[in-house]
Amino acid sequence: MKKIQGRGTLEAVDGRLDIVVNINGADKALRVAPGEYLLDALRREGYKGVKRGCDNGDCGTCTILLDGKPALSCMMFAAQAHRRRVVTIEGLGTPDRPHPIQRAFVETGAVQCGFCIPGMVLAAKALLDENPEPDETAIRRALDGNLCRCTGYVKQVEAVMLAAKKLKAAGRRA
Ligand code: FES
Ligand code: FES
Repeated sequence: MKKIQGRGTLEAVDGRLDIVVNINGADKALRVAPGEYLLDALRREGYKGVKRGCDNGDCGTCTILLDGKPALSCMMFAAQAHRRRVVTIEGLGTPDRPHPIQRAFVETGAVQCGFCIPGMVLAAKALLDENPEPDETAIRRALDGNLCRCTGYVKQVEAVMLAAKKLKAAGRRA
């Protein structure tokens, strides 16, 4: 029996851990292997917006929000998310009702192949939750862990600026 210290102590039974993670606002029971990465657990559960890029902590495509802060799901065990809040891109908007940040990315032409965009949008959300009127430096700093192979990063900065305006106009935070 293997014990894992996270939020509370988890005990593996038959090589599996039973965890509960709040994913996009709903508590979800997951059975995971002690060494399973959160990226793999989320994708197995259908959250395919969490992308596998480098699998090494370098590209940011696997970004989620963990208790409101950006985190790399390829760099943490699923068990470390026990009793914590996870937001994936699926929790932000839908194709019919995109979040203002998603709309801003589309309207500024920041989306090309789209592979980096879920991570970028979530990094932008964390920034705008904390700082509703960021300057360019703050935006570049917030996005600097999210690599994009398609663009020169100019459009994404414009997108976050536009998103800040949209959210301000809507009178609410991201
Ligand atoms: S897949 Fe996690 S940082 Fe690249
Ligand atoms: S839009 Fe293609 S990787 Fe960023």
